[in-house]
Amino acid sequence: MQVIEKIKDVSNFIKELKAQKKTVGFVPTMGFLHEGHLSLMRYAKKVTDVVVVSIFVNPTQFGPKEDFNAYPRDMEGDKGKCLEAGVDILFIPSASEIYPEGYLTYVNVEKIADVMCGASRAGHFKGVATIVAKLFNIVKPDKAFFGQKDYQQAVVIKRMAADLNMDVDIEALPTVREPDGLAISSRNSYLSGAERAAAACLYMSLKLAEDRIGKGEKNSAKIIEAMQHIIQAEKLVKIDYIAIADTETLEEVKTIDRKVVIALAVWIGKTRLIDNVIVNPSP
Ligand code: PAJ
Repeated sequence: MQVIEKIKDVSNFIKELKAQKKTVGFVPTMGFLHEGHLSLMRYAKKVTDVVVVSIFVNPTQFGPKEDFNAYPRDMEGDKGKCLEAGVDILFIPSASEIYPEGYLTYVNVEKIADVMCGASRAGHFKGVATIVAKLFNIVKPDKAFFGQKDYQQAVVIKRMAADLNMDVDIEALPTVREPDGLAISSRNSYLSGAERAAAACLYMSLKLAEDRIGKGEKNSAKIIEAMQHIIQAEKLVKIDYIAIADTETLEEVKTIDRKVVIALAVWIGKTRLIDNVIVNPSP
């Protein structure tokens, strides 16, 4: 595995591989790697010749009051995990390499970046779209892999790639969960024991929604109310939002007459967690 810090070096190396007709798979991450990230890398290894992983805690996608400084980091542990997953190139640029002095350019995806997590985290998806566009330009992947766990992020990136004619296939892969259903996340490391136990209510509420829709419920407001009941039973958990939305436009769906994403964000103490499921209504 090549560990590379400089943009020029990674670009040159990938150019050589492309000249040898190798296909390049890319998994961008912010590190503190876990099974969710590793599942993307293992899948990339299966479908492309060369797997590139980036680790970069991207300052532009964090708000001024968010957890950029506290975000967990473990570069040595991450290198070992990448090696084990069969990663070929690990790209770990510095912030000054990515955003040198005088940097002024951002990618703004409209509308779908303003709802759900975009409404709670102003500017977040602008930071995400910008870094992913930059990384795509540096790595020039044939395929890039994202987790469904960050469903809205995957939708925003697909939109950006289509709108800006980026020559990359984007695949969103299933959420990897803990045995009790909690979506694995680097931020789970912030939770105390009691908070971690309470966090199980996120997936419970999503399963309940799935179950109600399976039984024929079409009224989003009723489903959201039932989800609120489950989550509000946990005193440590505060709801940021619960949304039932169209899987592509992310517009609110009031009557469930098509495939929907049910997405939520909560605060557990100082930790913000998100999760979602995709549900097809019963005929
Ligand atoms: P990060 O949170 O490190 O996640 C990197 C990738 O791993 C994302 O595509 C995310 O959806 C996926 N992932 C995280 N947890 C997962 C889980 N439990 N199951 C499956 N996939 C999971 O998302 C980011 O970083 C950043 O916003 C980034 C795209 C790297 C831009 O900075």
